[in-house]
Amino acid sequence: MPYKIAIIVGSLREGSINRKVARSICGLKNDNLDCSMIEIGDLPLYNQDLDTNPPEQWTRFRQQVGSADGVLFCSPEYNRGIPGVLKNAIDIGSRPYGQSVFDKKPGAIVTASPGSIGGFGANHQIRQAAVFLNMPLMQAPEAYLGHVTDDSFDNSGCLKEGPLKELIKGLAQAFHDWVHMIHRSRQLLAEDGAHAAQQAKSKEHA
Ligand SMILES: Cc1cc2nc3c(=O)[nH]c(=O)nc-3n(C[C@H](O)[C@H](O)[C@H](O)COP(=O)(O)O)c2cc1C
Repeated sequence: MPYKIAIIVGSLREGSINRKVARSICGLKNDNLDCSMIEIGDLPLYNQDLDTNPPEQWTRFRQQVGSADGVLFCSPEYNRGIPGVLKNAIDIGSRPYGQSVFDKKPGAIVTASPGSIGGFGANHQIRQAAVFLNMPLMQAPEAYLGHVTDDSFDNSGCLKEGPLKELIKGLAQAFHDWVHMIHRSRQLLAEDGAHAAQQAKSKEHA
C-alpha cells in the first residue's frame, strides 16, 4: 500500500514554482507515495476564539492532514522566512491544544527559489515549527532548491528531465523510506507491547 502524503504548498500563486515542484512529486511514476496537494488559500486567519466553533475550512484542512501518513512542505521564502499563508495553515493544524494534526506525523521540507540560497531561511523556520510540533522530520537529503525558474519546467508544469528532477526523485524515495521506517517501527513496537502483555497474562494464569 502506498503511503498517503499531504503536500502543503506555501504559495497561492497560479504559476508558483513551488506548486510545480509539488506537482512534479505527485506526478512521479512510483507506486509507494500517494500524494495530494492540500488547499490552504481559503483558510480564515487563525483566531483562538474560533476553536469552539471552527470554520468549515479549518475542519476540512485538519481532517485532510490528520488522515495522511506524512506531510511534505513545499514553500517559497518570503523575506527570509515562512510565507504568512503557510504559517497560518501550520497554526490552524496545530490547535486546539493537545489535538494537533501534525503530532508524530513524519515530515519533509522542500523550498524552491529563483535565488541562489534556495529558501534556506524559510526551510529552517518551517523546521523550527515542525520540531515544536513533534514531527519526526527527514534530515537528509536537505532540499534548498536554488535557481529554479519557469524554465525548469515543461509545458505541463512538471520538472524537465535533468539534475533537478533526479534530485527530486531521490528525495521522494528517501521520504518514502523515512515514512516507512517511522510507521513500521511503531507497528513493531505495538506488536512487541501486545506480545509482552499476552505473556504477562499467561504467567498470571499459570
Ligand atoms: C513578498 C516576497 C518576498 C520574497 N522574499 C524572498 C526571499 O526572502 N528569498 C528568496 O529567495 N526569494 C524571495 N522572493 C522571491 C520568491 O522566491 C519568488 O517570487 C518565487 O517565485 C516565489 O515562489 P513561488 O513561485 O512558489 O510563488 C520573495 C517574493 C515575494 C513576493
